[in-house]
Amino acid sequence: MKKKLLILSLILAPIVCQAQHMVGSGLAIDPYQIKNQKAGLFSKAAVASAHPLASQVGAEIMKRGGNAFDAAIATQLALAVVYPIAGNIGGGGFLLARKVNGALVGIDFRETAPGKASRDMYLDEQGNAQTEHSQNGHLASGIPGTVAGLFATIPYAKLPFKELIQPAIDLAEFGFVLTQNEATGLNWTKDSFEKYSTQASAFVKKNPWQAGDTLVQKELASTLKRIRDKGAKGFYSGKTAKLLVAEMTRRNGIIRLKDLKNYRAKMRTPIGFTYKGHEVIGFPPPSSGGIILAQVLKMLEDRHLETLGFQSEKSVQLLIEAERRAFADRAEHLGDPDYWNVPVKQLLESGYLRSRMTDFTEGKASKSSTVKAGYFSESTETTHLSIVDADGNMVAVTTTLNGAYGSKTVVGGAGFLLNNEMDDFSIKAGVPNMYGAIGSNANAIAPNKRMLSSMCPTLVLKNNAPYVVLGTPGGTTIPTSVIQAIVNLIDFKLSPSDAINTAKFHHQWLPDEVYVEKDFPQALKEALSAMGYTLKLRDGIGRTEIIVVRADGSLEAVADKRGDDGVAGF
Ligand code: DON
Repeated sequence: MKKKLLILSLILAPIVCQAQHMVGSGLAIDPYQIKNQKAGLFSKAAVASAHPLASQVGAEIMKRGGNAFDAAIATQLALAVVYPIAGNIGGGGFLLARKVNGALVGIDFRETAPGKASRDMYLDEQGNAQTEHSQNGHLASGIPGTVAGLFATIPYAKLPFKELIQPAIDLAEFGFVLTQNEATGLNWTKDSFEKYSTQASAFVKKNPWQAGDTLVQKELASTLKRIRDKGAKGFYSGKTAKLLVAEMTRRNGIIRLKDLKNYRAKMRTPIGFTYKGHEVIGFPPPSSGGIILAQVLKMLEDRHLETLGFQSEKSVQLLIEAERRAFADRAEHLGDPDYWNVPVKQLLESGYLRSRMTDFTEGKASKSSTVKAGYFSESTETTHLSIVDADGNMVAVTTTLNGAYGSKTVVGGAGFLLNNEMDDFSIKAGVPNMYGAIGSNANAIAPNKRMLSSMCPTLVLKNNAPYVVLGTPGGTTIPTSVIQAIVNLIDFKLSPSDAINTAKFHHQWLPDEVYVEKDFPQALKEALSAMGYTLKLRDGIGRTEIIVVRADGSLEAVADKRGDDGVAGF
């Protein structure tokens, strides 16, 4: 394709023209020569997301008068095009926001199990769990929630939806250049796309993708245009829905038109708690993120991490042991609150959390076999974007297809990937999902139920004013990455860049192992091994996007070093 300079129009008709014609469009985004800014200090508004083009779209929308909600919608839609590994319209997620007037907004657009789903649907005749079907192909998908989530965000936005979706349409229709990471991801997944899709898609071509190739997604552009012209109905009914159901019925999929028609995003009341004079706001069930965040930070609050020191043996051990205990509760008690009585109050009760750490021995690893979930008599490839606008609205959105490229099933004729979120249910008590997490009745499959998540979009306030917006992908490592970023900032006084980019670690109760990133200090690894911890190396834990509001009101935005993530602002 002849390379032309695409000027992403924020008006209805996309404008494609040579470089010399771009003057006057007012929108300086060049999808053929991507400039990536990893960190920036901005005076008015900032976006940090997994892809520089998506961040630029969000910033341009705010320059045009949009607020952080407009930018979140436009950035998410752009990610669905330029970041197919996780950005999506075929997945789901959570939006957490604080409006400038202090009102909190929690939008749950998590996928749901299809109406035909059943508790034992992934067990064979011998009762063995078949994770192949919960993780790949047509049976792995929940009902996508992202488009409903976008429309649930509209009441908080200012600009017409048509302006917010147009950049994504342009990027899909005229293409953008691939980075090396994206080319590698598509090449690695080629066989799976072919195996789990029934029709040709834009993601598969004969010769391997290379950095600099242009990815054009015409069918996705048409789907986005139907959403632009018909709203949520352009996805949940009509042609797109029919294409999706046709894709399902070509194999063993069970999503039907009724499931799509009945899908609704839900408003949830965010979880708020204090940590060392800051107010932290997290997402409630069906995500486990906010509860794990609150439990771990509250278990640690009186332990003086700041005097123990960053990456000291003592501070790291405390975090590991608090994580172990929070994840034991997750496995037993957390699930979709509309289907399971999640004992939120008890899980966050300060006496309970203090008691959780009484069996902790300094210098010695606890054993997960002896650390159990608390007993309460009543009872049970993701991507993140952070935005702050000129008014002080804060928006954090974490959204996912679950694994990289989700189920690897592309909806024939509609050009988008479906999620493999069914694997986030506990498909059999005690059987680990793809992140090693186990669960029980609380998170068992039931028709129309939401599967438990670890996603953890998070806001932090200082003196009742915006301080931090953050979040990350990473499966079960999501809350522990967010926790580390928060203690790195608040307790250890690290810069925002160091807070997210230094080596991280993770413990999730079972398996009883500590994951550490490759650049985790050698001496610390040896010290933890000597205490009795089993260490496992992990390639990269999370991709955190953070915006910190400095004392002078300027916005320090940092994108994670682990990927192509980028920031934009003004
Ligand atoms: O909701 C969850 O917890 C998972 N589906 C998130 C998956 C994820 O973060 C993948 N990214 N690495």
